[in-house]
Amino acid sequence: AEYETILVEQRGAATLVTLNRPQALNALNGQVLDELLHAMAAFDKDASQGCAVLTGSAKAFAAGADIKEMQAQGFADMYGHDFFAGWDRFTRTRKPIIAAVAGYALGGGCEVAMMCDFILAADTAKFGQPEVKLAVSPGMGGSQRLAHAVGKAKAMEMCLTGRMMDAAEAERAGLVSRIVPADDLIDEAVKTAQTIAGMAPLAVLANKEMVNAAFEMSLSHGVQFERRLFHGLFGTEDQSEGMAAFVEKRAGVWSGR
Ligand code: HXC
Repeated sequence: AEYETILVEQRGAATLVTLNRPQALNALNGQVLDELLHAMAAFDKDASQGCAVLTGSAKAFAAGADIKEMQAQGFADMYGHDFFAGWDRFTRTRKPIIAAVAGYALGGGCEVAMMCDFILAADTAKFGQPEVKLAVSPGMGGSQRLAHAVGKAKAMEMCLTGRMMDAAEAERAGLVSRIVPADDLIDEAVKTAQTIAGMAPLAVLANKEMVNAAFEMSLSHGVQFERRLFHGLFGTEDQSEGMAAFVEKRAGVWSGR
């Protein structure tokens, strides 16, 4: 497909999606959302692809929702069109998406990074929810996902003051899985995505689904949900293959069934 605001490239079994509105520090407007939803739906359907990386530029992953697009909107426009609801579809992508963040991930940029399954940060990454400075608030899940990720104290301080976290603080707080030198970010993220894409596809879907369940249900229900999915994987050909391969000291060859 032809896109104007994103670049999509397949690197082996990993799909690299790059936000590409450099003139606006990758501010997320309606077109970015539409193109991203289209690209992620195609990625989910493509059996040759196992994991995606979402990244921006060296200066900005994304500096937020597009302020110029929102500036003239009123309550009726926002509520009437359920503005931002489209992003829920992004979070329903079934295969994993890694956010590879360099530079600014602010407002909607931070929120989209947190919609991904985990965040790899360059040492240049800066995270923040500065919406309060515009007299608004996070609107794409930031107050909720940030509180889940870093706890109330840091989430509250960041939302109320707009203070940014650098990569080191974000790693200490558990917002990012690890920090890599900025020059290595894309290679490391793609390598990680290819590792995931090399696992049995149904097991990858199940692992993603069960970790996400931890944020939606009680511990006992989550543990039961996990166990049922785990049982279900014993109905797959790849489980037989994976365990046989281990016993025979060779690499598994997955059928995706
Ligand atoms: C639209 C944006 C933008 C944004 C930057 N730009 N962020 N356009 N929406 N969120 C544009 C600038 O207007 C400018 O365009 C160009 O990108 C370069 O930005 P500069 O400000 O000149 O760059 P710099 O001085 O390096 O400062 C970088 C920055 C700053 C610190 C990231 O741009 C900034 O504070 N941006 C806004 C961050 C923010 O408030 N994000 C939250 C958005 S609200 P021109 O044409 O002037 O050169 C949000 C809401 C979510 O996400 C839900 C609630 C509604």
